Amino acid sequence: PTITFTQPTGEATEIAVAEGTSLMRAAVTNGVEGIVGECGGQAMCATCHIYVRPEFADQLPPISDDEDEMLDCTTAERTDASRLGCQVKMTDQLSSIVVDVPSDQE
Ligand code: FES
Repeated sequence: PTITFTQPTGEATEIAVAEGTSLMRAAVTNGVEGIVGECGGQAMCATCHIYVRPEFADQLPPISDDEDEMLDCTTAERTDASRLGCQVKMTDQLSSIVVDVPSDQE
């Protein structure tokens, strides 16, 4: 699967990852700016906040209670497209997903 991270500047980075890799892990491993992943993927920090493009919304895993709570603590505004990058793992269905990185993360 591949993930495209789009920066607020419009700059896009496409990354190929193994199935099961989270959006946060893929971003941090590849040095994508704006995704911090401070808690290491425990749904405890909200520094992996991303916006998923609407065309992929119905292929995403459901939002757990922990994720839902953390999404209320994001620095950038929460929208219907908001997810924690560490809680979305790549699958073949999600292949070619495009996400937007918020302008404020910490
Ligand atoms: Fe901390 Fe996702 S890495 S909430």
